[in-house]
Amino acid sequence: MSNTPAAEAARRRTFAIISHPDAGKTTLTENLLLAGGAIRAAGQVRARGENRRTRSDWMKIERERGISVSASVMTFDHDGLMFNLLDTPGHEDFSEDTYRTLTAADAAVMVLDAAKGIEPQTLKLFEVCRLRDIPIVTFINKMDREAQDPFALLDEIATKLQLDPAPLYWPAGSGGRFKGMIDLRAQTFIPYNRNRDEGHDPAVPLNGNAVDRYLDPAEREEAEEGAMLVQEASKPFDPEAFLEGHMTPVIFGSALRHFGVDELLATLGAFAPPPKAVKVEKGGQTSEVSPGDPEVSGFVFKVQANMDPNHRDRIAFFRLTSGKFQRGMKLKSQGTGKQMSVNAPIMFFASDRELAEEAFAGDVIGIPNHGVLRVGDSLSETGTLRFAGLPNFAPEILRRVRVRDPLKAKHLKKALEGLAEEGVTQLFRPELGSDFVVGAVGQLQFEVMADRLGNEYALDVIFEASPFAEARWLGGTDADIENFRSTHRTAMASDIDNSPVFLAKSAWEINYVAERYPKVSFQRTRERG
Ligand code: G4P
Repeated sequence: MSNTPAAEAARRRTFAIISHPDAGKTTLTENLLLAGGAIRAAGQVRARGENRRTRSDWMKIERERGISVSASVMTFDHDGLMFNLLDTPGHEDFSEDTYRTLTAADAAVMVLDAAKGIEPQTLKLFEVCRLRDIPIVTFINKMDREAQDPFALLDEIATKLQLDPAPLYWPAGSGGRFKGMIDLRAQTFIPYNRNRDEGHDPAVPLNGNAVDRYLDPAEREEAEEGAMLVQEASKPFDPEAFLEGHMTPVIFGSALRHFGVDELLATLGAFAPPPKAVKVEKGGQTSEVSPGDPEVSGFVFKVQANMDPNHRDRIAFFRLTSGKFQRGMKLKSQGTGKQMSVNAPIMFFASDRELAEEAFAGDVIGIPNHGVLRVGDSLSETGTLRFAGLPNFAPEILRRVRVRDPLKAKHLKKALEGLAEEGVTQLFRPELGSDFVVGAVGQLQFEVMADRLGNEYALDVIFEASPFAEARWLGGTDADIENFRSTHRTAMASDIDNSPVFLAKSAWEINYVAERYPKVSFQRTRERG
């Protein structure tokens, strides 16, 4: 029964890495690819990471050949499983796409810098995972450097994230004294060798003398005592609780020294979930699509400008949810009813991209198109399935936008609407006044936007400071929302789908009004329907 959609989906592990810049995402990605046998030498991903770090290079790349398209998803086969690693752009290119990518992932690896613990961007991304109940594996990185006390790190996970940490390993020292880790389940010791090129020795049993080759008596006692204490103090790893998003297995390691990476890959293979059944709407009824269903279906979670900015050529990233996709197949968009032959789908293998001959639930393929496909589009063979819209996330930066030539104001409106529909930025139309307010979760999106408005719409725009700093979608009964709106008209706006939005001057103001209007909810996300 191999190669059936169900069997193929069952061997998929589609995951993303969430982390704060500099925690080691790029290094870990590279070492996962190395562990998975997808690349042969260190340095291949690194080079790309370096490029992306400098904004000017990044913009140039963006203009010339699309946004690091080949790094958006990387696929590799290992141990009979097919891993799809989705890139969640960080640094300056942190954007709504970063969040939306998580809607296409079935699991996430949270990378923490052992010296820093949970940092702001990790927390933001974690919240999106929680919203979608995405199971998380924690990798505490940089153990080869001076680290915080591992108990304190676990405690931070428990208190800041309300997530039960279940260490699968326990480190012996850190920094210059880092010696390896105890495998708590196998009761073995995995020695660390700081000289990466020599490789790390294989695990030895914990209860014999072999350990003494790696740990002196004091180190051994400390590691064993820590291991005992942590097992008493934490709940044992429960795969069910992990799948439900209540518990995170914890692995310690050093991505740079390729330590703990094989264990991470093995943990993902053993416990991360294959694609699940997904809720859809079909003919006005709610039903479910299972990965093994014969009909090919999926949704677009990201659209990127392609090679040539003069042509409206784009790559839509399509996450499959069911069926067996074959090259040349016709897919229909539920929203527009348009049918397209997918003749040149791209699958992103670690080192390069190749044409996808076939793909299954969990896989992501790139579909080149001329702007027909939008973020959130549902595609299937019959065109009758509709996935719940991808959420919009409250922007973190708001700007007022004006066009230099006032005669082009109408033109600007259309252009802004186009970009908002594509999911590049969000557009808010204040109820009073004629300015538009645009929102994004990352600064770079404004530059991308200005660039595209210039190139594609010949509009020279100016972004100005906005009096508003936060946006929240309003929830509640029509009467309650109306009651709120009537007293806050100067701060009311509507989004691209005409949903009411409250624009606040600060986060403090949101708390203030939320207390006074308990019947109205102020939401950070909105599912686009
Ligand atoms: P990011 O993608 O999350 O932003 O992080 P990235 O992998 O680029 O790593 C950030 C820095 O941390 C890099 O150093 C990298 O070498 C280092 N690093 C990553 N993992 C480890 C680890 O396990 N141990 C140690 N000691 N360092 C680690 P850099 O100085 O910024 O760059 P480079 O000069 O090394 O290239």
